[in-house]
Amino acid sequence: MCGIVGYIGNNVKENLIKGLEKLEYRGYDSAGMVISNNNEFIVEKAVGEVEKLKKKLNDKDYTGLGIAHTRWATHGEISINNCHPHFSSDGNVALVHNGIIENFENLKSYLEKNEKYFYGQTDSEVIAKMFDGELSLNKIKDVIDKLKGAYALAIISKKNDEIFFAKNKSPLYVAKGDDCFYVASDPSVFSERCQEFYSIEDGEYGCISVQGIEIYNKEGKINEKIAKEIDFDFTTSNKEQYNHFMLKEINESNKVLENIIAFYEKEEAFENLKSFDVKKYNRIYLVGCGTAYHAGLIGEKYFKERLNIDCFTRKASEFIYQNDIINENSLCIFISQSGETADTISALEYVKNFNATTLSLVNVTYSTLASKSDYVLNICAGQEKAVASTKAYLAQCLVLLILAKYFIKEDFLSVLKDFQFDYGNDDLIIPLAKHLHNHEKIFFIGRGFDYITALEASLKLKEISYIFSCAECSGELKHGSLALIDNGLPVIVIANDESCFAKTLNNAYEVKSRGGELILFSSIDIDKEIENNFKYIIPINKCKDDLMPIQTIISLQKLAYYVAVERNLNPDKPRNLAKSVTVE
Ligand code: M6R
Repeated sequence: MCGIVGYIGNNVKENLIKGLEKLEYRGYDSAGMVISNNNEFIVEKAVGEVEKLKKKLNDKDYTGLGIAHTRWATHGEISINNCHPHFSSDGNVALVHNGIIENFENLKSYLEKNEKYFYGQTDSEVIAKMFDGELSLNKIKDVIDKLKGAYALAIISKKNDEIFFAKNKSPLYVAKGDDCFYVASDPSVFSERCQEFYSIEDGEYGCISVQGIEIYNKEGKINEKIAKEIDFDFTTSNKEQYNHFMLKEINESNKVLENIIAFYEKEEAFENLKSFDVKKYNRIYLVGCGTAYHAGLIGEKYFKERLNIDCFTRKASEFIYQNDIINENSLCIFISQSGETADTISALEYVKNFNATTLSLVNVTYSTLASKSDYVLNICAGQEKAVASTKAYLAQCLVLLILAKYFIKEDFLSVLKDFQFDYGNDDLIIPLAKHLHNHEKIFFIGRGFDYITALEASLKLKEISYIFSCAECSGELKHGSLALIDNGLPVIVIANDESCFAKTLNNAYEVKSRGGELILFSSIDIDKEIENNFKYIIPINKCKDDLMPIQTIISLQKLAYYVAVERNLNPDKPRNLAKSVTVE
């Protein structure tokens, strides 16, 4: 994944660091920067978060130019050697890269035969080794013509006064402010200092210097692009009274609900869907990754209850291998908080080959996914900073519910207007978290909507607590997974559906007879006899069926959060992960 930033102006160091802080959601394995000053490079690198790099820097700052990088490791261990920037063999050229070069091994062996020495294992260093001496636009074109794969590159040399850039598949933006220039993976980097920016397209390359911005197309011709205005809200949220963004974001659930109502009650909210006729479609696919995929599963249920159309939810990374029937009568709905998830973007590009209609639900409306979709809906969650998705999941489910109702012209806001989510009972959830935090494995089970909640709860727990967890349909346990039940293994039973409660209870008792320890999350009133089977019971507020899975996940998100805190982990930045997953 990784985030890159290049800057020309005053206080290069300070502005590169500010840029990296904005990009840290793209990875925090290591961070590094290089500044070009008086024909020399000033280089600083650190393993770990940007904060670590910041601590290594002295107070001296420079006017001029520099590039910087925050890494999410794909090739090669997390080490100083693999930390960007990377350098050409003669040390004159420095480069930062976001993406994956698919043919790097071939290129590397060719370069090694030509006596280039490699100090690390990254694919990015291979690109750096393709440069030596003077940098020029021709040289950039020559190098990118040899690359296969995804790249956003920022490149400088000791002698040039420009920052060169190139892009394929990984996002890249350039901008000019009153007294500065930027190239970056995300416009949030320069939103405070620039009014407009250029979105670089695949195959484009160019350079920025105090003279201005030059962008060239694939054919090497200058591209007079139209700048876009920065009219997005980039206000960076802070933790306020909370220790972590994750808890703050869970506690913003009702704010998200308010935002959604305020946005969707405006007539123009569905402006771009005016010409849209859902009856034209005979198949709907809901596509996403991780939490967004789970939101898709919830959406599938909302749609199936209302529309007489086949609906299927697919994991974006698997979509192209399913041989699904996709044609001009297919509506493909892509769900992505960031709108930059590479698997989801690839799935969208895939269905375009079959002339399917594409509609995206995103939290970032200027994102790549949004720009490539026929229709876009804003999930209005506000900035989500914790890697674990909480309020965005809630927003995705709510907007899918609104969409399902909109399609059949059902009143879609009145139910929401009278509603407030309950934030669960911390006095019960915290003791449960203390009890669970030393366990090595935890199971979640449920049926129907509750099974989807189990999937999402399990993902949340494993993601931030590193406890092995999995979710199973209650009825499926006896077909295999029951063999895993051991003495004292915690099994969290999610049960909100009265119609299948008795069956779910039976499945839970089958667990108990084999030594499993039962924990119940439920909105159903139970008697003492049932109660006695459960070591912990977390009551969930009853609400309309459609909202029940959203109401329930809040307590389970909190459980995951408190378990991580009990384990002394930082829930906001789980190991090995990043907020925006821009590689396939
Ligand atoms: O930005 P996206 O919604 O496309 O991200 C998809 C997943 O990577 C994301 O939901 C991930 O599963 C979360 N970290 C889970 O909490």
